Amino acid sequence: MNGMDGVASGLSGRSFASVDDFSNRELACVLAAAGDAADHRERYTDTCRGLIMASLFFEPSTRTRLSFETAMLRLGGQLVSAVDVGATSLAKGETLADMARVVGGYADLVVMRHPWDGAARVVAEYAGVPVINAGDGGHEHPTQTLCDLFTLQRERGALQGLRIALWGDLKYGRTVHSLAWALARFGATIVFRPGAGLAAPDYVLSKLASDYGGELVRGDVLSQSEGEGILPVDAVYVTPRSPHQLAMLPHISAQVELDRGLDALYVTRVQKERMQTPPGTKPAGYPVVDHKLLRTKGFEKSIVLHPLPRVDELSLDMDSDPRSLYFKQAHRGVPVRMALISLLMGRAPQLPQPPEWPQDDWQPVKHQPYLHDTGVKCPNERCVANQPSEQRYLTQRFSVVRGTPLRLRCRYCDHEVVAVAVATAEAYDEPASRRKYHPATSRWATDIREENLLVFASAQAAEAQGFRAAAGA
Ligand code: NCD
Repeated sequence: MNGMDGVASGLSGRSFASVDDFSNRELACVLAAAGDAADHRERYTDTCRGLIMASLFFEPSTRTRLSFETAMLRLGGQLVSAVDVGATSLAKGETLADMARVVGGYADLVVMRHPWDGAARVVAEYAGVPVINAGDGGHEHPTQTLCDLFTLQRERGALQGLRIALWGDLKYGRTVHSLAWALARFGATIVFRPGAGLAAPDYVLSKLASDYGGELVRGDVLSQSEGEGILPVDAVYVTPRSPHQLAMLPHISAQVELDRGLDALYVTRVQKERMQTPPGTKPAGYPVVDHKLLRTKGFEKSIVLHPLPRVDELSLDMDSDPRSLYFKQAHRGVPVRMALISLLMGRAPQLPQPPEWPQDDWQPVKHQPYLHDTGVKCPNERCVANQPSEQRYLTQRFSVVRGTPLRLRCRYCDHEVVAVAVATAEAYDEPASRRKYHPATSRWATDIREENLLVFASAQAAEAQGFRAAAGA
């Protein structure tokens, strides 16, 4: 036993729809196996002989699909694949659930990329075999995050406490959403530097602020030294762990962190395909990474990562710079995915040495499921739960996120609905005339037992359900 076996065997048979499906120890276990697969590929040869991976890519892909398929072939497994919705029964109106049940009966593992946010979660619930999310719309891309973390760990020596800037399209870029959440769990300071109008969505920042223990500082409280350097930034997430921060206000901590320079710059392209009116060229105000930027204060020691493909946000003159690691990062997709597949299939060889375990084993925060139907709808029109074909069997599903403000988080795509009014389900035992709702911000809201909590997105919604404003509400 090398200490990893328990964690490794705990991954067997699991799905990986979100980066938050695994604890920090589990992520460290995948990264340790990835290191082993990179350095000793022969130990993994044939570990998945006799197994079949279904490779379903319903959106364009080069790196993710080819590295998954290469990984499975290197493990001695085989593939069945579909690369176009038009060529599958989804085009005939088949639901994701039915497709999952069928493909899960053919293959031992399903890898899927799909344009709807939350699609991988649905497939994971119905396939009966492990499912890996290879990108679900603009939501998440957790295996790209494994490649990113693996590269950061190898190049920077450790994941703990990095300072990293996420750069470019932070709104639609699913890679940055998964990466931000994972980095926060390893105590990173994260700088958000979006293109104009492409700031990280509220649901991404809101989850950062509520689930990972750090502080989110919005850009407008940082000093705005226009032009050169790291600023202007949109937001900074600071971990509360460094000692100098204990006595400081969050925005001062953020400034101190920025002044220390960045370990890494994570550049992304404009995700034109997710925009209603895509810009013809690179939108105005989109930050370009080039040699000039990398010479400015704060960037001297930054390594440059990019999930690729690049368009023109990352200058070609960076390719010869030793700090540019994006092609290495892409090549590492194979050992990373070999490690992940062999662990989920319960076929990974034992590691020669235990990995360095993270200081904190962050565990996914367990928010209470929301138990009632009060007409609340996920606000994300690209959410799987809002697609007519899927609404035949999926219900809207939320978790209750306590805190300010009280809100419901979609269990498929993480978008949130802020509670405006609340009531207790005990009111259903009262005569209709005595059913009352209260403002979600009132003290009353905190007294309602979790299982009785009724949430409404507006006073009108509460009234439509037969509730009346409580006195003083
Ligand atoms: C990314 C994706 O598909 O989200 N590509 C990838 O998987 N490496 C990033 C992108 O397309 O911009």
